Amino acid sequence: MSNFTKSSTHTFSTVSEMSDTASVSSISTLESVVEPHQAAKTVLVTGGAGFIGSHVAEHLLRRGDTVVVVDEVNDYYDTAIKHANLKKLSEYDNMTFYKGDICDKELMQGIFERHDIQWVCHMAARAGVRPSIQDPYVYIHSNIEGTTRLLELAAQFKVQNFVFASSSSVYGGSTNTFFSEDDIVDNPVSPYAASKKACELLAYTYHHLYKLNVSGLRFFTVYGPGGRPDMAPFKFIDRVSRGAEIQQFGDGSSSRDYTYIDDIVDGVIRSLDRPYGYQIFNLGKGSGTSLSEFIGLVETHTGKKANKRILPDQPGDVPYTCADCSKANRLLGYQPTISFEEGIRRTVAWYNRAYGTQVDDAQVVREQAVLAPKESVVA
Ligand SMILES: NC(=O)c1ccc[n+]([C@@H]2O[C@H](COP(=O)([O-])OP(=O)(O)OC[C@H]3O[C@@H](n4cnc5c(N)ncnc54)[C@H](O)[C@@H]3O)[C@@H](O)[C@H]2O)c1
Repeated sequence: MSNFTKSSTHTFSTVSEMSDTASVSSISTLESVVEPHQAAKTVLVTGGAGFIGSHVAEHLLRRGDTVVVVDEVNDYYDTAIKHANLKKLSEYDNMTFYKGDICDKELMQGIFERHDIQWVCHMAARAGVRPSIQDPYVYIHSNIEGTTRLLELAAQFKVQNFVFASSSSVYGGSTNTFFSEDDIVDNPVSPYAASKKACELLAYTYHHLYKLNVSGLRFFTVYGPGGRPDMAPFKFIDRVSRGAEIQQFGDGSSSRDYTYIDDIVDGVIRSLDRPYGYQIFNLGKGSGTSLSEFIGLVETHTGKKANKRILPDQPGDVPYTCADCSKANRLLGYQPTISFEEGIRRTVAWYNRAYGTQVDDAQVVREQAVLAPKESVVA
């Protein structure tokens, strides 16, 4: 059990009452920084079979926390990848896995009771921009209803910190050079983005009503070993390695802030350990890479020339993303360290180990079946 004492008088950015394992040091008259909670804890990780959730869960397990994973293991992409993630986590004694829907009231209530959940890392969601335009209802269910279910339980069980995955897609078609948490984000351009914005609003409501400590993390396109097969980094590496065609949407000048998985995990853990009243944090790399440059790096590290098909821009995709991470740096000490080139180098090295570089025709057919999820370039 943790010995962190919850503040009852949180306002934005200000924590007024802490125990001896968590203290406050003022850096300005406007902001106070929460020092990290350091005792071992039991953490509920939703979406722990997925890409980011499984990496976060593994980090927590390695450092000695007890982790309770809930995931419905849906088939948005190949479930073999999620089962492989769970297998890795099951090597740790301090991990318990429940297969089920986070909207299932009885299941989730039972988990909070049985494990005395005080720390929540909510990563489960339907991800993907384009599929959300085809079928918005599943996004409303998993993202909005699911997050509401968890916030209700978090308030009921008086959890000490609730951290959840939002997304850079809330910035919509903003043309600002850097996206800041202070920007007005009232114009989401896909049901997925709208669902994440709705989660942020609901989270504020639960903070307001119940003084729940809650932080929403706006991830900027996350990639790396074990990355989602529907996203461009995995897709391009896979297809260029195999000599298969890649689809380039637009003229190649669109630019994204790609964040390596280790940097994201570091940001999630920093946020989990620091209960603020209510905060939204950008977690990105803090610099953009154009699509042309990205494809060039994939060519360099795979040693293969990309076979590109140029297509028009896709509805729902945002042309440009770049995170202003200064707030996460100030309040969490977050500082991404992996350059995009180094991240692509590591991801190609992982891909070669996981899938091999020698592909004959039969293997191409098999891999296409395994690695052919619904289309999405961004999360
Ligand atoms: N990967 C990115 O670049 C990125 C960018 C921005 C935001 N995000 C957000 O980060 C989180 C993790 O993303 P990811 O890339 O690891 O995705 P992922 O699809 O690999 O993981 C999500 C997991 O949640 C599970 N899940 C979905 N709905 C569920 C439900 N109702 N009940 C139980 N489990 C459910 C899925 O089975 C999956 O394993 C998501 O909230 C996503 O929206 C990701």
